[in-house]
Amino acid sequence: MKAVLVEEATKTLYIGEAEIPAPGEDELLVDVRATALNRADLLQKRGLYPPPAGASSIIGLEMAGMVAAVGNKVQGWKKGDRICALLPGGGYAERVTIPAQMAIPIPENLSFEEAAAIPEVFLTAYLNLFVLGGLKPEHTVLIHAGASGVGTAAIQLVREAGARSIVTAGSEEKRKKCLELGADITIDYKEGPFAPKVKEATNGTGVNIILDFIGASYWEQNISSLATDGRLIIIGTMGGAKAESINLGLLLSRRLQVIGTALRTRSVEDKIKLTKEFSEFALPRFADGRLKPVIDSVFDWEHVNDAHAYMEQNKNIGKIVLRVHN
Ligand SMILES: NC(=O)c1ccc[n+]([C@@H]2O[C@H](COP(=O)([O-])OP(=O)(O)OC[C@H]3O[C@@H](n4cnc5c(N)ncnc54)[C@H](OP(=O)(O)O)[C@@H]3O)[C@@H](O)[C@H]2O)c1
Repeated sequence: MKAVLVEEATKTLYIGEAEIPAPGEDELLVDVRATALNRADLLQKRGLYPPPAGASSIIGLEMAGMVAAVGNKVQGWKKGDRICALLPGGGYAERVTIPAQMAIPIPENLSFEEAAAIPEVFLTAYLNLFVLGGLKPEHTVLIHAGASGVGTAAIQLVREAGARSIVTAGSEEKRKKCLELGADITIDYKEGPFAPKVKEATNGTGVNIILDFIGASYWEQNISSLATDGRLIIIGTMGGAKAESINLGLLLSRRLQVIGTALRTRSVEDKIKLTKEFSEFALPRFADGRLKPVIDSVFDWEHVNDAHAYMEQNKNIGKIVLRVHN
């Protein structure tokens, strides 16, 4: 089969040949029609984010496609079913295998390209807001990089939970999109510190949950933006991994929780449980349009290097999708 591979010397991507994976007895073999980019792909390409043990070495954390074959013990799926799923790797390819229980049926109103934009960012946002964050309708959530793939999913989920969101973003256009998706307040972090604006927007109380991809450069402002009993959930370190000064006393006095998490390295059992919970919450909402995959652009997979360069320049609002030809 064809797959996107990495030219090691130059770290550029090209379409080459790879072996078709064989489905196990509890797995599905899927004809991939579309996949989508994630920040992790940029790191993996450079050898900075190796796939977990046992996962495909091909880049790609999600896909949408059609079931091509089903394992002996699989129930409930048949050849030709339209599905999307989270992957530990292998999405940038014509075919991939997945545990059958991780397949999400694609609602009829969504195309393969739209469905490919769902799994990674929506499951990440769902996990962090509901499972780890304990999101409640009375909460206010601070979402950084609100126009990112994960950010655009998180804004919608907070809205659907009946809670309030404050988001940071780096341009007027990005802030506008966040408001359209249901953000209550947007802050351009390039115009000055966000923490005083968060305090003002919460009448001095602070927020209950922060979904943070930035890390070190936001540490102090994040801690000062949290309400008592607040949770800082760190899922990325785009602004650095080593915070200079950490005042642990503040964690105690305001009973703050700091949670670090990664979706990719979780067990298959965990991911199956998460997929089921998420599907129950989200599929009816995707079917009637309350939730929408937010797509910035679709590239043919021959142009995968252009797609990566576009993400590297922080240009995208929502997801960048790759159309896979097979
Ligand atoms: N741990 C997990 O389980 C998990 C799962 C999925 C994703 N993630 C992480 O979540 C983050 C978002 O991923 P994504 O695919 O949604 O990203 P994305 O769509 O590429 O968006 C990232 C945005 O972050 C902003 N940004 C970049 N560097 C920044 C910096 N130094 N300071 C402030 N803002 C910065 C930029 O927007 P502006 O123009 O607004 O600055 C950029 O467009 C990544 O760090 C990714 O690794 C983690």
